Amino acid sequence: MSNATDSARNNLTIRPLGAALGAEVTGIDLAGPLDDDTLAAVQRAWMEHLVLVFPNQPLSDAQHISFAKRFGALEEHHQEIIKSRAAPEIFSVSNVDDDGNLMAPDHPSVAQISLAQRWHSDSSFRPVPSLGSILHGIEVTEDGGETWFTNMYKVYDGLDEATKVRIAGRRACHDFGHLATLGPIKPLTEAERQAMPPVWQPLVRSHPITERTCLFLSPIYNNAIEGMDEDEAVELVAELNEFAGRDEFVYRHRWSRDDIVMWDNRCTMHRATPYDLATRRVMHRTTVIGKGPVVAA
Ligand code: OGA
Ligand code: MN
Repeated sequence: MSNATDSARNNLTIRPLGAALGAEVTGIDLAGPLDDDTLAAVQRAWMEHLVLVFPNQPLSDAQHISFAKRFGALEEHHQEIIKSRAAPEIFSVSNVDDDGNLMAPDHPSVAQISLAQRWHSDSSFRPVPSLGSILHGIEVTEDGGETWFTNMYKVYDGLDEATKVRIAGRRACHDFGHLATLGPIKPLTEAERQAMPPVWQPLVRSHPITERTCLFLSPIYNNAIEGMDEDEAVELVAELNEFAGRDEFVYRHRWSRDDIVMWDNRCTMHRATPYDLATRRVMHRTTVIGKGPVVAA
């Protein structure tokens, strides 16, 4: 349903942010209703650039959720400590609690958020992983606290032939519980553990919309690779992780307050950079549920 008023309000400009991936989108008000043509233009830009940055969008959580729902149903996080009290669809990527108090650096929630400083794809541990995430920078840091993104189409294309052969047709295990081996997070409850048993996903996938081939890895959750012993799997994940983080594949986002950044979890990985945990960083994320199982390329 097209609406002339909404179309007139939105006059998109799309500016690529670098050679690897990412584009800035201006001339749009995400707080208001978006007509179907504008939404389709955003979707096209998203599939082309993988990461979209919308500067200066001071959305309420409710407006953020409404925008995110245009792309699909939203996840609710399976852990109580991460969910915001305000809305179950909001994942609080913050070192500030629901009452607005800075949490201690050794608080388990802060420890868990800090594990996002390693490359990953959100919710890859679900049987149907997330399609994309939308993050709102509410209180941003001056120094550090950037978010980096890597283009997994280019990463796959850039692998040498021997590695492509080595990973062809193999699946990696994505286990939420693997996080607990990486840092002092709050131990999972039995219910949380049972809610998220390990899943096996193809290492090389075909993107359901673009039909392009990309690497599908999420090293903070990957603890095994089909047909490999543990040492070999750990080494391969580390090798792919390092390769994926090469400059030529990466866009580094430096946050301004009220940036909205959306990324495609199917063909990118992302990581935060460290920052001074004595400064406040408040980011609200919605996570769009994927439309179906991961398809091997
Ligand atoms: C996330 C995430 C990185 C950051 O929100 O999923 O990994 O920079 N965030 O906060
Ligand atoms: Mn993340």
